Amino acid sequence: MEPTFTIVCITLALFVAGCGGQQAKSKEICKRDNGFFPHEEYCDYYYECVDGAAYLQECPNGLAFAGNRKGLLDHCDYPHKVKCPDPDGKRIMGQPARGSEPCPYLFGINPHEKSCTRYWLCWNGTGTVQMCPFSLLYNEHEHACDWPDKVPGCQQHPLCQGTPNGLKAIEGSCVRYWQCMGGYPRLQRCPAGLAFQQESQRCDWNGNVPGCEVSPAPEEEEEEQKKPARRQSNRREEEVTLN
Ligand SMILES: *[C@@H]1O[C@H](CO)[C@@H](O)[C@H](O)[C@H]1NC(C)=O
Repeated sequence: MEPTFTIVCITLALFVAGCGGQQAKSKEICKRDNGFFPHEEYCDYYYECVDGAAYLQECPNGLAFAGNRKGLLDHCDYPHKVKCPDPDGKRIMGQPARGSEPCPYLFGINPHEKSCTRYWLCWNGTGTVQMCPFSLLYNEHEHACDWPDKVPGCQQHPLCQGTPNGLKAIEGSCVRYWQCMGGYPRLQRCPAGLAFQQESQRCDWNGNVPGCEVSPAPEEEEEEQKKPARRQSNRREEEVTLN
């Protein structure tokens, strides 16, 4: 027995009952010449056939066998790219997760815990946050950025419910509005003299927005109204000093 074959035999023993039938098994796997062949049970293992002997190889953790020189790395690619698990559920991922959050598997594309517009790209155990372009949301099922209507399960801030990407008027305010992006709101303000109009989803001349015809003074007055309270407390302090 060649030494290399012995090593393969030991590794294969994990998957194949005993080493007795090993040569027969190699013959079966390698009947189609040298090359790379899928493992019968696990997407993330494959065989390399050299002169009729099958050598068990493993994909980088989190990737699945794609074919000779196909895929991202070492003949392997993301499982969803090679349809693993297969529709019958016969071939599944076999390696344990060897990384840690946010990259349980060393390679992969994972959802972000808090954001719908972001996702984690894991490369050899190191996660980098990626942003979806435009107003796309991360679709966990597709492992890619997708149109918001295709991502129904995306968690959203209550303010942005029903409008994950869009502008929402704030009741009682003419100049301020919420800009929802990926289900999360950001406070925005119209330029001076403009008021937010829900129908057109933009800041318009305040004369065109019912209830906002008067310049944004009302809100500034609102802020002014808060000031007397502060002034009063100041005065009290003054009184204390005078005493
Ligand atoms: C992954 O990292 C290990 C050590 O941390 C290194 O040996 C290996 O070459 C790296 N693989 C890739 C594909 O970067």
